[in-house]
Amino acid sequence: MAVALIILGAGMGTRMNSDMPKVLHPIAGAPMLVHAMASGAALDPDRTVVVAGHGAAAVEKAAKSYDPDTIVTVQTEQLGTAHAVAQARDALADFHGDAIVLYGDTPFIQPETLAAMTAARLTHDIVVLGFDADEPGRYGRLILQADQLDRIVEFRDATDDERAVTLCNSGVIAANAATLFDLIDAVGNNNAAGEYYLTDIIGIARARGLTATVVRCAEAETMGINSRAELAIAEATFQGRARKAAMGDGVTLTAPDTVHFAYDTVVGRDTIIEPNVVFGPGVTIESGATIRAFSHLEGCHVSRGAVVGPYARLRPGAELAEDVKVGNFVEIKNAQIAEGAKVNHLSYIGDADVGARSNIGAGTITCNYDGVFKHKTIIGADTFIGSNTMLVAPVTVGDAAMTGSGSVITRDVPPGDLAVARARQDNKAGFATRLFDKLRAKKAKGS
Ligand code: UD1
Ligand code: MG
Repeated sequence: MAVALIILGAGMGTRMNSDMPKVLHPIAGAPMLVHAMASGAALDPDRTVVVAGHGAAAVEKAAKSYDPDTIVTVQTEQLGTAHAVAQARDALADFHGDAIVLYGDTPFIQPETLAAMTAARLTHDIVVLGFDADEPGRYGRLILQADQLDRIVEFRDATDDERAVTLCNSGVIAANAATLFDLIDAVGNNNAAGEYYLTDIIGIARARGLTATVVRCAEAETMGINSRAELAIAEATFQGRARKAAMGDGVTLTAPDTVHFAYDTVVGRDTIIEPNVVFGPGVTIESGATIRAFSHLEGCHVSRGAVVGPYARLRPGAELAEDVKVGNFVEIKNAQIAEGAKVNHLSYIGDADVGARSNIGAGTITCNYDGVFKHKTIIGADTFIGSNTMLVAPVTVGDAAMTGSGSVITRDVPPGDLAVARARQDNKAGFATRLFDKLRAKKAKGS
């Protein structure tokens, strides 16, 4: 069956106390909206419609960066969840199949849960995702009658008896798209909030002789985010899952609680991640690598057998081939480090190629920026770059060449040459002894 997603994200999110729309606040480096879209992507939707409102332009940008085919519609006034879903009507006018309503602020719905909902659709006209709440609070309550879901009552409109029900509405609803829009047409706003409630469609459907049922999931899955405190809980929830998943995939985390993953981090089997490692977006680590303590990685690729850190920083475009070593206080940006090369101490390598088996001495810096433009440094294979070499880009060091330590290299170095670019050493015989004597005598006299 064809599936379209309708993801609601127009709400203001007042309790975030933010200039940024709520659905753009990040969890593990990606907007919560993207997490919701990724959940829905498990259904392989034919169409995805995001309903934006507050900060619509920014929401559209985020949605399209995840999936360029996303259709974004704008709900200019937030008149309720039914009114929000109605904004997707035009985008789905020629769509035949099921619509699934998700919330942009509910990022953790699992693929199995959505699969259970589409399965339940085979036997019921409307399927609502519910959960048994520990503290039902202000959630809508699901009112059952025999084996059918009879209606949903919002907390503000509920009687005491209805409020005692603990089976709550997650907000996720599946129905045939045409049926859904038909039912929404019949929704009014004569209720405690004066809003058009999507939840009213159940009662309307039942009165029309349609069937409705509930699929249940764990409460943690339906967690909605309304405040910074809940955002922090969501982050912790995500990290807990990501750590568990990594270990399940054969990755060793020596101190799991101190490792922070991004939403898209990929780590291969038998890789070891030491304590206090942070992953930004876009990192792939192959099998059998070691990421040592206190390293920060983003937008990079680390190959099999490479060792990174401790205290290393890999920035976007860092590409480490097999068995590369990047040591302490080394920063690599937009650079390819070929197989077996070593950058072990206190270096900056940016906008560069480093050839296989080359050794980059401590304190080496690629001077890539002239204040206006960025320039490239090319270092061949099997080179030895002396400690504290400044490579003033654009510059090329040929294969098997050397630079003397402390050199400032401003011209290309041919293969096999040694480049020394520093003042020649001059030893003045006995000068230090004479100078010390003079200074000490002066100090003695003065005191
Ligand atoms: C809603 C449900 C409630 C459910 C709860 C689960 C209704 C009427 N109530 O209540 O039964 O238990 O979610 O979290 O549906 N939105 C728009 N436009 C609007 C209004 C809302 O896009 O005009 C979006 C919000 O951005 C949010 C989602 O819809 O992503 C839910 O809206 P919210 O105001 O949080 O609904 P609740 O009162 O929590
Ligand atoms: Mg809510």
